[in-house]
Amino acid sequence: AAAPVNGEKRVLLAAPRGYCAGVDRAVIAVEKALEHYGAPVYVRKQIVHNKHVVSTLEERGAIFVDETDEVPEGELLIFSAHGVSPAVVQSAEDRGLRTIDATCPLVTKVHREAVRFAKNDNEILLIGHEDHEEVEGTYGEAPESTTIVNNPAEARTVQVKNPDKLIWLSQTTLSVDETMEIVNILRERFPNLQDPPSDDICYATSNRQAAIKKIAPQADLVIVVGSANSSNSVRLVEVALEYGAKAAYRVDYAHQVDENWLAGVGTVGLTSGASVPEILVQDVTRLLADYGYGDVSEVVTAEEDILFSLPKEIRATLKERG
Ligand code: F3S
Repeated sequence: AAAPVNGEKRVLLAAPRGYCAGVDRAVIAVEKALEHYGAPVYVRKQIVHNKHVVSTLEERGAIFVDETDEVPEGELLIFSAHGVSPAVVQSAEDRGLRTIDATCPLVTKVHREAVRFAKNDNEILLIGHEDHEEVEGTYGEAPESTTIVNNPAEARTVQVKNPDKLIWLSQTTLSVDETMEIVNILRERFPNLQDPPSDDICYATSNRQAAIKKIAPQADLVIVVGSANSSNSVRLVEVALEYGAKAAYRVDYAHQVDENWLAGVGTVGLTSGASVPEILVQDVTRLLADYGYGDVSEVVTAEEDILFSLPKEIRATLKERG
């Protein structure tokens, strides 16, 4: 790579980055299930949205399916971290499947909010991407009462039945800023719009965005490790660009880092989405060191110590077997 425009070559490594508590729990749930019940273990959808994680678990005997009807009757099925609608739970039950629910507790929280507000005759505006599994699941809790708002343009046109009994909820992995923009548009149109009881965008999503916001203004290039279908990873690229990174790219693996990206680059910002194992970030730092970016400092904007207990079905088995 060419010499940097100004100053030394260095890497600013965002912290927090990588695994959140919900991903950690979901991946361990599949590992423990393989260990204790033996392969095959079926998983509905990708357990978390990361290529490396999915292929590693596949090698160990996990079988990823799109729908419950692909699972042979009586087998074990794990629901992914993104959650499922009640209809999916019912169809697994109808097929006589044993299930383990690895839905992140922070997604379950949003599901409960949807159920509770719909029961009290509220209309729900669910901010999120309609093609994302998490939104399908949350929407499925109260489809008659819920309208999905994908973006600011839809916030400007969405129609509601009763603007005085209206609440907004959201997907957990959105851009904090864009969500606020959408809420402001909605509130201008519907002044009595209620806020959710607590933030739906989760701590991991907002912490990772805050960390890259700090680094982006100094970065000639930001590299985000994460998969294309990982909502929070894709948001990190957008946030980096919004906050002044001269360029920002997402990669699944270190080998996808293009040498041309480094031309004239002094400071590289590096982060990873909530579903990304740290080993993939280390691969990138090693590669960057080969290009002369051996000076790595961590920029810490928050400490995280959240840990979720394993799904109850796994806990019960572990207890039985001592
Ligand atoms: Fe849960 Fe947030 Fe991770 S919702 S799975 S803690 S990104």
